[in-house]
Amino acid sequence: MAALGVTHLVKRFAGGVVGVDDVTLTVGEGAFTALVGPSGCGKTTILRLVAGLEEPTSGEVRIGGRDVTWLPPRDRDVAMVFQNYALYPHLTVRDNIAFPLRVRRTAPAEIVRRVRQAAELLEIDALFERKPAQLSGGQRQRVALARAIVREPALFLFDEPLSNLDAQVRAQTRAELVALHRRLGATMLYVTHDQVEAMTMAQTVAVMASGRVLQEGAPMSLYRDPASLAVAKFIGSPSINTVAGRSTGARFEGALSCVLHAAEASGAVLAVRPEHLVLGAAADASPATVTLVEPLGPESLVRMRLASGEELVARCAGEAPWHIGDHVRVGVAEGRGLCYRASDGSRLL
Ligand SMILES: Nc1ncnc2c1ncn2[C@@H]1O[C@H](COP(=O)(O)OP(=O)(O)OP(=O)(O)O)[C@@H](O)[C@H]1O
Ligand SMILES: [Mg+2]
Repeated sequence: MAALGVTHLVKRFAGGVVGVDDVTLTVGEGAFTALVGPSGCGKTTILRLVAGLEEPTSGEVRIGGRDVTWLPPRDRDVAMVFQNYALYPHLTVRDNIAFPLRVRRTAPAEIVRRVRQAAELLEIDALFERKPAQLSGGQRQRVALARAIVREPALFLFDEPLSNLDAQVRAQTRAELVALHRRLGATMLYVTHDQVEAMTMAQTVAVMASGRVLQEGAPMSLYRDPASLAVAKFIGSPSINTVAGRSTGARFEGALSCVLHAAEASGAVLAVRPEHLVLGAAADASPATVTLVEPLGPESLVRMRLASGEELVARCAGEAPWHIGDHVRVGVAEGRGLCYRASDGSRLL
């Protein structure tokens, strides 16, 4: 397994669209990094540049310390698993998995060994004689994974490989992929627009927007300490609450207010995670009206509207004692307010 290093990577398409705009990114040997961001932010383009399916306008791609920027895909030792993992419909599961090895003229005994190993790992050895049409979506996805694994590549690239699966199978396959990563000790770069997927699977998450990496870090550090309003809003579900106002340096003042340690700014945005809103009669709590209560079992989401018209969602343990139309008071748990400049979304420190 090899580390991946991408340096000042730029991809400008014919017609002038900049798909990737100066991205520098490292995936350590054996690490699992997720690339996450909204549609069109350049995730797939980065994978295609790393795989060699696209040539960069400028910048460098290194795999295992070797400069592969101008090498054809077959010389890069990379396996890519796509959302539409096209299996060959006329081949059995066994032959689909063996296909990349046959193409490389691997010795027959070695093919048998590696195909069996990959199939056992993904628990699809019972399906060997079936054709893709006779498989469920989740089973097909596992066959596609097995086909990537048999090659024993230096680097795995995944492009939203689970998005065609229904919620339950997706959650299960997610866990399987993480276990697989552990067992193989493989280097993986995983693209998704689903931040929950990125947070739960990866050791490192890079958040992208408009061709750039906004912030990179451990999932929980991005969650706790987002460097910009864009990252704060992208990470977390339900999304972080935002309220417009100003920072005096010691307080945030708006339809919701709290104590802060931040630079002064006349145009500021307070951002608060749903679990950091406190409902009750604290001293500087603000009036709000409950608009919806969503019981989720172990917790409830309480949606409410401030006097300014701004909407908030609070996460409360267990069953919430409030109902639609209730007048409540809402405040921010001590030290939990994040403050950003309204003009550019940068953090006010
Ligand atoms: N071959 C191409 N020619 C011109 N523009 C392209 C080409 N491929 C991608 N783009 C543009 O580059 C940008 C990045 O595209 P990319 O496919 O990398 O986004 P993405 O993050 O993978 O999005 P999604 O989540 O929807 O898959 C988009 O604006 C897209 O329209
Ligand atoms: Mg894409």
